[in-house]
Amino acid sequence: MSAIELFGTTFHNPILLAAGTAGFGRELDDVIDLDLLGGIVTKAVTPEPRQGHPALRVAEFRGGMLNAVGLANPGVERVAAHELPWLAQRLRRARVIVNVAGATVTDYVRVIERLTPLQAITAFEINASCPNTKAGGLEFGADPVGLADLVRACRRVSTRPLTVKLSPVLPDIAAMARVAREEGAEAVTLVNTMPGLLDKRLGNGSGGLSGPALLPIGLLATRRVRERLDMPVIGVGGVRNVADAREYLAAGAALVAIGTAALADPRVPVRIARELNRG
Ligand SMILES: Cc1cc2nc3c(=O)[nH]c(=O)nc-3n(C[C@H](O)[C@H](O)[C@H](O)COP(=O)(O)O)c2cc1C
Repeated sequence: MSAIELFGTTFHNPILLAAGTAGFGRELDDVIDLDLLGGIVTKAVTPEPRQGHPALRVAEFRGGMLNAVGLANPGVERVAAHELPWLAQRLRRARVIVNVAGATVTDYVRVIERLTPLQAITAFEINASCPNTKAGGLEFGADPVGLADLVRACRRVSTRPLTVKLSPVLPDIAAMARVAREEGAEAVTLVNTMPGLLDKRLGNGSGGLSGPALLPIGLLATRRVRERLDMPVIGVGGVRNVADAREYLAAGAALVAIGTAALADPRVPVRIARELNRG
């Protein structure tokens, strides 16, 4: 597997840690060599620190898991002062993509304005699945106008490339990817978790489904976008082994991110990267 050119840089392999499942990398540093990965996507960053949702935050079921973490993170100032400098001094080859979230367009803009000068960042991943409080809680990415407003505002303040992360429950995901591209996004990340419910098993009530059940859904989204648009895709959802990662690459993904499988065993993404290299 040769290196991948994307976002004006080189990923030495296509395997990333997916947003929210590897924190800012520190927790994994004693377990794996992060530099053996193509890169790491950080957990969502919001302007203020967020405690997240009440326990329980994750629940397993046969098809994978549900999570209701609620974007818990230390806030942009701490990320700028501690987390990203740590990653910058720690990583030599692995690239850093920062996942950005918020309740208003201004939240996203504040995070990007603060972080965009930091050299450690290769790109921003715009989490478009957050509820927009100014649109009655409708997700930013759920309608073309909301998505266009969000991406345009992020594009205006970012000096880094953008990838827009979309929900798998959009009626026409390729049409929404087109909106993101028209507003200046370089790539899309497909897919985020899918809304789900397991009776009384999460503190927040409902949550986001991830893991094996998401594999065919993410693959279809990747294929649909690649068939209709000449736009790079970061494929994510349900990858457990090298065969799953190869399915995303065959569907047209440039990079492949791994979340739930890495929560269960943090060595899985490095193993997959190594097996891809063997060809
Ligand atoms: C515990 C947990 C936390 C997550 N946090 C984020 C997040 O902060 N931002 C985001 O865009 N996606 C987040 N995700 C979604 C993942 O990045 C990924 O899109 C999804 O889990 C599907 O991949 P997987 O099946 O390999 O886990 C989270 C997923 C899980 C399981």
